[in-house]
Amino acid sequence: MNTRDTLKINGAGHLEIGGMDCVALREKFGTPLYVFDEDYIRKMMRVYRDTIAREYGDGLVLYASKAFSCTAIYAIAAEEGIGVDVVSGGELYTAMRAGFPANKICMHGNNKLPSEIAYALECGVGLIAVDGASEADLIEEEAAQRGTVQDVLLRINPGVEAHTHAYIQTAKPDSKFGFSVAEGAAEEMVKRILAKKHLRLKGFHCHIGSQIFERKSFCLAARKCVGFMSEIRQKYGLEADILNLGGGFGIWYSEGDAQAAPETYADYLRALISSLKEECAAHGLKLPRLMIEPGRSIVGEAGITLYTVGEIKEIPGVRKYVAIDGGMFDNPRYCLYQAKYTALLANRAAEPPCERVALAGKCCESGDLIGTDFNLPKAERGDLVAVFSTGAYNYSMASNYNRNLIPPAVLVKDGGAEYIVKPQSFEDLVRNDVVPDRLRRK
Ligand SMILES: Cc1ncc(COP(=O)(O)O)c(C=O)c1O
Repeated sequence: MNTRDTLKINGAGHLEIGGMDCVALREKFGTPLYVFDEDYIRKMMRVYRDTIAREYGDGLVLYASKAFSCTAIYAIAAEEGIGVDVVSGGELYTAMRAGFPANKICMHGNNKLPSEIAYALECGVGLIAVDGASEADLIEEEAAQRGTVQDVLLRINPGVEAHTHAYIQTAKPDSKFGFSVAEGAAEEMVKRILAKKHLRLKGFHCHIGSQIFERKSFCLAARKCVGFMSEIRQKYGLEADILNLGGGFGIWYSEGDAQAAPETYADYLRALISSLKEECAAHGLKLPRLMIEPGRSIVGEAGITLYTVGEIKEIPGVRKYVAIDGGMFDNPRYCLYQAKYTALLANRAAEPPCERVALAGKCCESGDLIGTDFNLPKAERGDLVAVFSTGAYNYSMASNYNRNLIPPAVLVKDGGAEYIVKPQSFEDLVRNDVVPDRLRRK
């Protein structure tokens, strides 16, 4: 457990988050339940925002909202004065519903639909990161029709291999994302964009992967991007205004991951900023406006998921399964890439662990687990399990598999808790179902 002021074991021996006792949270909201600590989210946004302001000057933090998208999170980001990155019409719509300022939105996606591009222009998003050869044509057409000029970044692949899980690396040469610098595809795209009347190439974007602790990879990516910017200035006279270095900062999930406090994330930025400054000076380039897009590190550790223990199955000499009322429908990350988590019994949080168990979900899949290596006190039916660091890529990847209901989410702060995502109902599950007349029971 990565304890902090707003995440600790209280005097009753219960887990407490945002001043709320988790047992009380279950009484009020039931389980499974996503719980988000507002103070932590705001603290992380401020650490990034203030570090850039203090140590670099011109820049903007864009919260990567794919990590957790709901109307309230955009409202928080807007209050904190940061921008957001969106990757679909749905995320953009949610941001707009929150009244988020469109000029602080950067739109991503490796296959943006024509309808999403039209919607982005209609909303007036500040930037679109071009990530497909024909996409530049689509944006040009749309902007021409509207009689506007759209600011764009070009997503480049600087060829930096970050040391993280292979499935979530995005900047390897074999990647569906970005245009390779080494293979000349990025330069070709620069030419293609510069030839467009309704696109303004403001600069470049790269994102080298996720859950990265290795600072050197970020710094190397920054240096490579600056090298490319310098080459483009020499050849085409274009001095980039913006460099967006993506997200990817790692968080604590389990033993082996660094247990960082929010302030520590300023160190990543400091390292990045000094590489950027050095490299720009070496190439005689003006300092670009610096953008970063952290997602996981803003909401990941802010979130926990609460579950109630149901069935317990011990297979002697093999394994003990403790089944919870959630599973891959609220957290598919173990199934997807064997993500690791830490958990405790929130109603008996002060008790030392005494056995190693697998936390099993309730879906009809053998692989439906939250993990296999949880150290817990001897769990019993009715115990309350808290899984840590579930704020990122859990709710946003949730599904209604087996027609389970996606859990609600609450925001906790100063001992209070409010819904930010209401519970689904069975009625919600059948809302869009249609039974053709010929199948209707007479
Ligand atoms: C383009 C882009 N920016 C930002 C992010 C956020 O990364 P993270 O949540 O690891 O900070 C991602 C995640 O995949 C991404 O693809």
